[in-house]
Amino acid sequence: MKFSDRANELRPSAIRAAGKLIASREGCITFAQGYPAAELMPVREMTEITDDILGSRGEIALQYGMTKGNEELLKEIVSMLAKSGIKCEPKHIQVTTGSQQGVFLCAMLLLNKGDTVVVENPTYLGALSSFTPLECQFAGIDADSEGMDMEALEQRLAADSSVRIIYVVPNFSNPTGKTWSLERRKKLLELAVKYDVMILEDNPYGDIRFEGTPVPSIKSMDETGHVIYLGSFSKVLCAGLRVGFTVSSEKTADIFEVFKQGVDLQSNEFAQVQVAEYLRRYGLDDQLERIRSVYRRKRDLMIQVIDEEFPACVERTHPEGGMFVWIVLPEGTDASVLLEKAVREAAVGYVPGGPFFVEPGHENTARLNYSAGSDEEIVEGMRRLAAFFKKELEG
Ligand SMILES: Cc1ncc(COP(=O)(O)O)c(C=O)c1O
Repeated sequence: MKFSDRANELRPSAIRAAGKLIASREGCITFAQGYPAAELMPVREMTEITDDILGSRGEIALQYGMTKGNEELLKEIVSMLAKSGIKCEPKHIQVTTGSQQGVFLCAMLLLNKGDTVVVENPTYLGALSSFTPLECQFAGIDADSEGMDMEALEQRLAADSSVRIIYVVPNFSNPTGKTWSLERRKKLLELAVKYDVMILEDNPYGDIRFEGTPVPSIKSMDETGHVIYLGSFSKVLCAGLRVGFTVSSEKTADIFEVFKQGVDLQSNEFAQVQVAEYLRRYGLDDQLERIRSVYRRKRDLMIQVIDEEFPACVERTHPEGGMFVWIVLPEGTDASVLLEKAVREAAVGYVPGGPFFVEPGHENTARLNYSAGSDEEIVEGMRRLAAFFKKELEG
């Protein structure tokens, strides 16, 4: 059978490859998956809600619905966003099958073959997977602890008229856990307006802040329609329901609706009704409090072992929220080569950082997830990793 060029060029995801390797080793503790904590799933509440929906309006919830999204859910999203400073109406929203689909719809909306997508170095791997089939090019811009280097970004925008998208994860980024300062967000918006380029603000982790002061979203400051905002209930409620959304201009939302008809007709109606009912009954505040307190504890456990037991040559980020710590090993180290050894010899795994960059040369990095494991697994797994790195990096 003859596949398309894009199918032939597909490479398996590094996270999936790491996951497979780790799963093949019995007793291996993994920091590779970006899963929310299983113990925080609102199973009791969802059981009650599901029974009530089936009892009261099952024939509606199990039926096809509107491509744009379930009406009750659209209203709940509007009021949820208003609390975080984003003013919008249902006509600006498109419900998506996870925010992952939002990234893909934006790629369909904005990219022609050969166009350029600017991303932060490093960036979310799943976004690269959504953009790649559109046959675009990537430009990676370095970032420090406050966000993307704005001088480098402006140079690129001034020199390259093929840039169509600047994709950013400004809160507790996947993979680094870093957050952008307010100044960088304002500057990014200023540059996007000046060069007339769209910003995709992907914000699945913004509400999971357990330290520091919240920073306004870029969308909340957008007066010219240069930001498409991507939200998700995956990290704050139930990832398996696959409910996310985009916020954009009305015209863009209308185009998303037409694209989505061709992709999947609509997102799961029953899941949308479940999320809407959860929000109506409980709101998100209590669930977020639970998530924040558990993730803070888990982050503390992870960084405590890094600080006390890892070789001093290993650097780490200090996430104030979200689910990931990013580590930098000495120059010349290849974290993917070490992963194979770590899994085999120390029964512990992580995701090598190289694939999160659009250019080679960052193989000495790795992403560690702290949300999924139990406290005991985090401490034991990190100790195994500490002993392994000591042996490998200090001889
Ligand atoms: C930055 C970022 N964007 C989008 C997604 C996709 O999330 P979902 O499709 O579950 O909403 C993820 C998942 O890990 C992510 O980290």
